[in-house]
Amino acid sequence: MRPNFLRYLAILAVTGLCATSAQALRPEQNTATLTEGRRIYERACIWCHGAGGEGDGPSGWSTGRYSAPRPRDFTKDSYKLRSTPSGELPTDQDLFRTLTQGIPGVMPAYRSLNERERWQVIAYLKSLNAAFGQEKPIPIPLPPPPLSPSEAGIQNGRTLYAKYDCRVCHGDNGEGDGPEATAGHLRDASNLPIRTTNLTDPSSFKNGATAQDLYRTLMTGLDGTPMPSYANEFAGQEQAVWDLVWYLQSLSGQPGR
Ligand code: HEC
Ligand code: HEC
Repeated sequence: MRPNFLRYLAILAVTGLCATSAQALRPEQNTATLTEGRRIYERACIWCHGAGGEGDGPSGWSTGRYSAPRPRDFTKDSYKLRSTPSGELPTDQDLFRTLTQGIPGVMPAYRSLNERERWQVIAYLKSLNAAFGQEKPIPIPLPPPPLSPSEAGIQNGRTLYAKYDCRVCHGDNGEGDGPEATAGHLRDASNLPIRTTNLTDPSSFKNGATAQDLYRTLMTGLDGTPMPSYANEFAGQEQAVWDLVWYLQSLSGQPGR
């Protein structure tokens, strides 16, 4: 009986652990959380994001050691990597994803912080902008991708890529060499030159490279950059978005990933 009982306990513990989502590890919003978040911030983020969170840390931008992109200014409302409509703040889950995955080429993935610590530092950075306390950002619907891409869908995606002039920035073959990019016309909201993404290299995607990540990028845009949201163009046309997503993935030979 005893071993059975122990097994029962073990099963309980395992199911309990599985049910513990990142959400469940979130500390309460209180002074202790903010104090801990600030301690982590000052250890891990201040170097780039600056003492007041304005994106002016000593690592570069303010000292000219590197020029772009400027680290996010946490006192402002503009975020690139969101599941919310263009112009809105990111959700807590968006911030958690950014921290967990990092930003290729510019910011490390903070898996070195445990989930609780990630939530603590997120609580702290949100405290730097009163807007976070006023509104609760609402994500756009993010449907699961259809099971498998079709050749006809990919062809339709190619047509949409031409129709919406993605080539102007991303180039005919998606290599980031469109006329706007090569002419050096592209600037971000801080008026710093910005490079356009090479769509044939998914490992460089800041907002993720799965089909659903790309769907989110197209429907929300990367605020503060020339990459717009196509939510209006694609309103009510979910399948067309997936076709474009598959075309984008086909540029690196992996449609349907
Ligand atoms: C090596 C420099 C560096 C460090 C260290 C760093 N960041 Fe960043 N971070 C950046 C840069 C640069 C950007 C802007 C990237 C861009 O605009 O493409 C950014 C952007 C962000 C964003 C916004 C993403 C968006 O949606 O626009 C968040 C949130 C963020 N960082 C959180 C953190 C936190 C929290 C830490 C510490 C745990 C941290 N960063 C440490 C460089 C850094
Ligand atoms: C006016 C120029 C412009 C146009 C038009 C444009 N983009 Fe972009 N796009 C950009 C820039 C610039 C970035 C990089 C932003 C950054 O790195 O912060 C980008 C980024 C992206 C990304 C990668 C996001 C990531 O995760 O890093 C994808 C995917 C993308 N664009 C697809 C498209 C598609 C598809 C179209 C047409 C429907 C399109 N873009 C139209 C300028 C443009």
